[in-house]
Amino acid sequence: MYIDVHCHLTGDEYGEVGGVTAVLERATADGVTRIVCSGFDLSSSIQACALAERFPQVYFSAGFHPSELNKYQDGDWEKLSALFMHEKCVAVGEIGLDYHFDDNPPKEFQRACFIKQLELANTAKLPVVIHSRDSAQETYEILTEHKALLNHGGLLHCYSYSPEMSERFLELDLYFSFGGTSTFKNAKKVFESVQRVPATRILSETDCPYLTPTPYRGEFPNEPRRVALVAKRLAELKGVSETDMQEILFANAKRLFTKLK
Ligand code: NI
Repeated sequence: MYIDVHCHLTGDEYGEVGGVTAVLERATADGVTRIVCSGFDLSSSIQACALAERFPQVYFSAGFHPSELNKYQDGDWEKLSALFMHEKCVAVGEIGLDYHFDDNPPKEFQRACFIKQLELANTAKLPVVIHSRDSAQETYEILTEHKALLNHGGLLHCYSYSPEMSERFLELDLYFSFGGTSTFKNAKKVFESVQRVPATRILSETDCPYLTPTPYRGEFPNEPRRVALVAKRLAELKGVSETDMQEILFANAKRLFTKLK
């Protein structure tokens, strides 16, 4: 049995609702029994919630991705907070910092919204799912300064910073999820991070529709069924059996996402 702790099933690439149904059927056929669909703004968070209400194996997270903050409107924090109360909302996310593109929202605004959502998560007693790109140091500093808001834990999704940096994030008791990049041929940094992070802190994701794992790399859209390839790769990198890794990944997900049944 497999779990995909981070994916996006609300986009047009899967077609209408029937398209998602087929995607989820293929996931079930391949043993993927739990899926967390991640919001990245208000409307995708509402859609992720609707998917979770419709499909028993789907859970969701709600939040504003740093690159999407130009869509933020007054009142959105309140609307997101209402979603956090939902029985299948397992986390606040994805939230964080993204300094990759020059035309991303201003850094100061990203930081303020990141901190705001850490506060909302703490109030809602939920863990956070963090997206952090080209901003390792600042992400670390904000989390360290606001450690008191991390009472319910957190996850660095699609972890791609250095193995050394992972040790600093570990001091904050964070979890790390790995996806398709862990199966890519030259992702040496990712391999080393997987090996360095304790097995009790690792989660599996697809981040679909992106980052399709090897040997399907380049296929679009990626699907939750492909998380089986990620779990297999994590087992290899950790030197444990595939069955043991599947159990570890489920146990870790349930420890972090306490609403996951
Ligand atoms: Ni994502």
